[in-house]
Amino acid sequence: MTLPRNFYRPLAIGAPEPFRELPVRLERMIHFMPPHVEKLRAKVPDLARDVDVLLGNLEDGIPAESKAAARQGFIEMARSVKFGSTGLWCRINSLGSPWALDDAVEIVGAVGEQLDVIMLPKVDNANDIHYLDRLLAQLEAKHKISKPILIHGILETAEGVINVEAIASASPRMHGMSLGPADLAASRAMKTTRVGGGHPEYKVLADPGSGARAAYQQDLWHYSLARMVDACAANAIKPFFGPFGDFSDAEGCEVQFRNAFLLGCVGAWSLHPSQIEIAKKVFSPDPREVAFAKKILDAMPDGTGAVLIDGRMQDDATWRQAKVMVDRASLVAAKDATRASLYQF
Ligand code: GLV
Ligand code: MG
Repeated sequence: MTLPRNFYRPLAIGAPEPFRELPVRLERMIHFMPPHVEKLRAKVPDLARDVDVLLGNLEDGIPAESKAAARQGFIEMARSVKFGSTGLWCRINSLGSPWALDDAVEIVGAVGEQLDVIMLPKVDNANDIHYLDRLLAQLEAKHKISKPILIHGILETAEGVINVEAIASASPRMHGMSLGPADLAASRAMKTTRVGGGHPEYKVLADPGSGARAAYQQDLWHYSLARMVDACAANAIKPFFGPFGDFSDAEGCEVQFRNAFLLGCVGAWSLHPSQIEIAKKVFSPDPREVAFAKKILDAMPDGTGAVLIDGRMQDDATWRQAKVMVDRASLVAAKDATRASLYQF
């Protein structure tokens, strides 16, 4: 266990100091793109203006023979595009794969200064984070990187789920976590072939009675997602839902994202351009809720006491909820002019 006094010490001489607070960033969607595809790389300058986070994917979905090209494509894109307030992330291959070491060494060596976050798949336990933490510190020192590169873990193995608290608190380099429903399903031997979303056979039936029995579909991900949200919130890092694979089901995607948002997640992955708008819609607070939250803050300037607004009781706890809502709306307004006018900021 790292002693409290050492927790914020750089893990290599010359590496930047870890952040004590996460940088304030809007991350409603982490938009995935395959960097080895030249045609898609050409769209990145426009895409970077539209999304909150652009992620170059080197892991699943990239064929083995294209792994090196994807790494090079990412480097080229990071060097040539101005990302401004848009986050630049890279999903490297998992630590046990033949590619992870070269991914980290080559990418940090070439474009470490531009890179905000490394997404690490298939995190099983805190040791995985400790390994990458130290390696990144060595690379940051070697290449004189000025700010720490953060780690975002994917929670997608049964072992990861049972160790989720230890993973979330493993290092000040932790940015957050995403639930990876596809790999998690495989790891648990769930009998599904889907990427996120529900399943019509995972349901409960209404009690037997006279007529036809109603069936209610249940949420396959609630248990793991709720555990992950608590682990992230308790450690002041950010929880995300991962992928929703059925691009033809915009409604299903929206509901999956909204459940995650209501539960505490701050964003989700977009794997298809159509999911960017869905994520913006879901992870930007509702203007009516923001207007009501503003009323609460105005009515309770120091955040204490109790007042009645539109017949509803407000106190210190609802003030804190209102503050989360208004702070988030301000962050959205700073990036998104359409929503800034809806929020009347
Ligand atoms: C994402 O990587 C997943 O496995 O769902
Ligand atoms: Mg996965």
